[in-house]
Amino acid sequence: MHSASHTHRTVASGSRKGRAALAAMGVAALALTACGSGEDTASANLPDDLEGSLTVVCSPAEELCAAWADAFEAETGVQTNYVRLSAGEAAARLQAGGSTPEFDVWHGGTVDAFIAAMDDDLLAPYDSPQRAELEADVIDEDGYWSGIYVGALGFCSNQSRLDELGIDAPESWDDLLAEELQGEVMMAHPSTSGTAYTALWTQVERLGSEEAAFDYMRDFNRNVLQYTRSGSAPAQSAGRGEVAVSLVFAHDCISHQEEGFEDLVLSFPAEGTGHETGAVAMINGTQNEEAAQAYIDWALSPAAQDLGPEVGAFQVLTHPDAVDDERMVSMDDIELIDYDFAEAGEHRSDLTQRFDEEIADEPAEDD
Ligand code: F6P
Repeated sequence: MHSASHTHRTVASGSRKGRAALAAMGVAALALTACGSGEDTASANLPDDLEGSLTVVCSPAEELCAAWADAFEAETGVQTNYVRLSAGEAAARLQAGGSTPEFDVWHGGTVDAFIAAMDDDLLAPYDSPQRAELEADVIDEDGYWSGIYVGALGFCSNQSRLDELGIDAPESWDDLLAEELQGEVMMAHPSTSGTAYTALWTQVERLGSEEAAFDYMRDFNRNVLQYTRSGSAPAQSAGRGEVAVSLVFAHDCISHQEEGFEDLVLSFPAEGTGHETGAVAMINGTQNEEAAQAYIDWALSPAAQDLGPEVGAFQVLTHPDAVDDERMVSMDDIELIDYDFAEAGEHRSDLTQRFDEEIADEPAEDD
């Protein structure tokens, strides 16, 4: 477990491109900011007498989880610890905790895993006032989860390695099956990783059935060098040239490019790719409900969302007044498949079990 230190960052917020209807909301948020005592506290309208401590299970990159915990603790004085677990790992830990959970809040991670947890009665609804600022398609109508960012799956390839193999960067799902790519593809495992489960469910959606998806995954598996536990790890392997192609969220490829892996190139399947909404939710049975609700208010506000690009995380943010960084992809420019999050969540347990049995075992803890 990691404890937050007291290093708070204030980040300038910008307006989101291409969302004209949000201008009015921006004015409302500015008015709120101007009336409050502290800039960031006012943007989430947090109570100033919060007590207790929070343990957050957090599924994005470690740096972002640490920045969030640090900032919330500095903002409110609530001692805030976090544990970084991939989305499938987080869902499994919540399941194991049952009615006596070790966590108060789940912050970040693909919503299919949140929906699976909700279906198992592991989340508690909370209708944060911040949700009024968000578009309807990024929030659960009953308040069980609320979206903080979105992202699209992409192919993150090492250009030098592709050149050695004499092939171009993949531009369709079938390109990943090329003979030249034997042992040259990496992805996380769908049981542990929300990224990889998104890739699996994408096959179900685009091919029209579970059977067809598993036929595709069997072929794909022939080219896979290794499955990792965490969704973004394959981009690092591609960056180092250990494999030619990694299947990751586009923003994780961009993070690794920004970190200095200059050989990485990002491409997308022309026939359409899968996508995520990353969520925040309160855990059913939390003993720190007031602080957990304040955390969610804050997590949905620009004050928290803007920390992403500050620490090299480039998911597209959901709050209309959150920063719009030029390193983020434009979701409008990417061909996306129809992706039913509720169905994805409902089938998570069955499909991951089938993947374990028919395609590849879940990797060990230290992989
Ligand atoms: O690294 C950030 C991120 O890609 C998030 O956008 C996503 O929600 C999360 O990681 C999923 O991580 P994992 O695949 O390890 O569950």
